[in-house]
Amino acid sequence: MTKLKIGLCGTGNVGLAFLKSVNSSKALIAQNYGLDISISLIGARKGRVNDENDIPITPDIHEVALSNEVDVVVELIGGVDDAYDLAVSALKNKKHFVTANKALISNHSKELFELAKENNVHIGFEASVAGGIPIIRSIRDGLISNNISSFAGILNGTSNFIFSKMADEKLSFDAALSLAQQEGFAEPDPTFDVSGQDAAQKTSILATLSFFQHATMENVYFEGVDKISPQDIDYGEQLKLILKPLSVGIQSEDEISLGSFPAFVKKDSLLASIQNENNAVLINAENVGGTMYSGPGAGAKPTANSVLTDIIDIAGGKIFDYQKFVQNKLSSSFDNFSCDRYLKLDASDQPGVVAKVSTLLADYDLSIDNLIQKELDRHEETIPLIVVLSNSKESIIQKVIKNLQNLEEINNSITHIRILDI
Ligand code: HSE
Repeated sequence: MTKLKIGLCGTGNVGLAFLKSVNSSKALIAQNYGLDISISLIGARKGRVNDENDIPITPDIHEVALSNEVDVVVELIGGVDDAYDLAVSALKNKKHFVTANKALISNHSKELFELAKENNVHIGFEASVAGGIPIIRSIRDGLISNNISSFAGILNGTSNFIFSKMADEKLSFDAALSLAQQEGFAEPDPTFDVSGQDAAQKTSILATLSFFQHATMENVYFEGVDKISPQDIDYGEQLKLILKPLSVGIQSEDEISLGSFPAFVKKDSLLASIQNENNAVLINAENVGGTMYSGPGAGAKPTANSVLTDIIDIAGGKIFDYQKFVQNKLSSSFDNFSCDRYLKLDASDQPGVVAKVSTLLADYDLSIDNLIQKELDRHEETIPLIVVLSNSKESIIQKVIKNLQNLEEINNSITHIRILDI
């Protein structure tokens, strides 16, 4: 029986869930695959673990990367700097390396993939994107013979949970975020989730794999989910639109467009049905057409499960060369991204405002699909004006928003939400 000894670094929620799932699935893996996997050393900076077992523990995680008792280092400590040092040390010591750390892979994929190749070891990062969904291997193995033209998905479970609760239970943004934290979906510092950075990092990893193009978070245009008000969700519902935290990647002949932002999708679209902490990814591939993958995008057990699938790959002798995925062939820009738009303007209650807005939009050749002036509350000085615009380019809409803000009758704070037909 092939043996594989794991050095586990990090014993937080995911680390402990991983420890438990190795123990609970050990027999099944041995029986199904003839592989004997075990954890031989734990790196826990506190020097102890909240779990009863007799596995040796070291407070120095770097010992794990150097130990002769370890074939594969599993990094579940989070953060970037220590995780990066650990990765480099493990790979240079010819240990396979498995991580759930999207920041690490998003920032350093090129260098780490090269190091892994040089040392003839595998780097596994299935758990870094979309929690329990096997999306990395679906792109890497399942769609290997296809050119992928685009992907779109929900990659942040916390944000999806927040929008779902705001829509279904009429919670405020803050109340929905607290609930996500209580349930353990949000990152320890929820800024990463709500600012869109978490989703942007995951988007860059999917882009690297889908388009054979080195992408980092710097290549992703992203917006936070905290600009959304319950009012926008309500207005969207009146237009038969559902709000989702979306991430997109599109490859054209000479560039890639990557983005991560709150967006409306049609009520009857597949992505509209993905609720709470669940994630989903739709991929358009040359030969297969569209395929969709959905499942739990956050949470300790699903993430630990994805880590374990990488371990099984390694134990089974799979050493994947990711170097070809980090080429620098295409430029990256979001300016040419096109979609329908929802604009919420706060307009003064004066005659001629709608005419002024319409004229400005017409000057840019933009066509209005829908215009709703909300019923007037006589106590308010401004009234919300909802304008739905048909397909327009990012570079144009940004100019239009600036010009609308310059109109005397329009308040500065304009809400712009993209509407995607997917
Ligand atoms: N906090 C992340 C999310 C889970 O909400 O999707 C880990 O990637």
